[in-house]
Amino acid sequence: MDNKQLSKPFVGKPVLGIESSCDETGVALLRWDPDAPGRGLLAHTLYSQIKLHADYGGVVPELASRDHVRKLLPLIREALAEAGLTVQDLGGVAYTAGPGLVGALLVGASAGRALAWALGVPAIGVHHMEGHLLAPLLEEDPPEPPFVALLVSGGHSMLVEVKAIGEYRILGDTLDDAAGEAFDKTAKLMGLPYPGGPALARLAEQGQPGAFHFSRPMTNRPGLDFSFSGLKTQVLLAWQKSDQSDQTRADIARAFQEAIVDTLIIKCRRALEASGATRLVIAGGVGANRHLRSELAAAGEKDGFKVYFPRLLFCTDNGAMIALAGAIRLASGQHQDASIEVRPRWDLETLPPA
Ligand code: KG4
Ligand code: ZN
Repeated sequence: MDNKQLSKPFVGKPVLGIESSCDETGVALLRWDPDAPGRGLLAHTLYSQIKLHADYGGVVPELASRDHVRKLLPLIREALAEAGLTVQDLGGVAYTAGPGLVGALLVGASAGRALAWALGVPAIGVHHMEGHLLAPLLEEDPPEPPFVALLVSGGHSMLVEVKAIGEYRILGDTLDDAAGEAFDKTAKLMGLPYPGGPALARLAEQGQPGAFHFSRPMTNRPGLDFSFSGLKTQVLLAWQKSDQSDQTRADIARAFQEAIVDTLIIKCRRALEASGATRLVIAGGVGANRHLRSELAAAGEKDGFKVYFPRLLFCTDNGAMIALAGAIRLASGQHQDASIEVRPRWDLETLPPA
């Protein structure tokens, strides 16, 4: 579909955002307004598949896709009702086109594309990590580029220099496990149920300081890349040698969380120094970690940089961040042909400027 075939081109009308890249179905409606609180967010709904995957100890892709099929349309209806809108009011559709699980992505992409085609409005495939990265823009006092973003989710640990929306340079990436993945795997090896990250973080609050100590990987040499898989092995050895009591589990959780958070902060400081930026954005599921949030805020006060976080709900996967990223691009006239394309892998640096 090119511009000429759109019977209703996008003109600041509500955009429907759909997230279905992994185990959360997220839907939101947003009327892009750079000056409005929340940038014009009208409604958001979310369904988490956690219970569905818990028995398997991790996300089962086929089950995830089928559940997105079941939940997506009811969630869209719910969001429209919450905003007091009908589909006819929509000016555009944004859906996560990657990176993520291919079957899960296809559910959101097919529904989004079909709806846009039926309504004659433009649709755009959004990069999931751009969604995370822009999520702090949904808050009061949003960050202005240029800034550095620490993206820490289940699939990614990245430091990104954001010169402008859509102009991204990856300063550091993970060589093995992502930060969220390290949380999840460490939790699992100490017997915590899926998804382990938030449970491990809660347990860490009961741990005694100094009972265990783990290394801060790759901080004793220059560079901005991460590697967390060795830390997981250190935890495994400590756990196997321990009395495996509840208190020991909490003590290890605390030391593990401190090691991850310290490592992330050391690299954030370096990235800010290297880029000359004075604003730091934190996004992605691990951005919900309270210890990370408080330690980074303290580091910012000490060093004179400002830290921006999305609210807790918008750290983990959600439809609002996809509606926002899509609305910004639709507002600048971007959209794609009416073919359903998803990208399980997708390099953030290849995105066009918004
Ligand atoms: O961004 P997200 O919802 O999904 C991906 O795009 O991957 O991130 C999920 C990840 C999971 O690994 C989860 O364990 C982790 O974020 N996570 C946390 C916390 N809440 C979620 N990790 C540490 N502390 C938390 N409070
Ligand atoms: Zn995510």
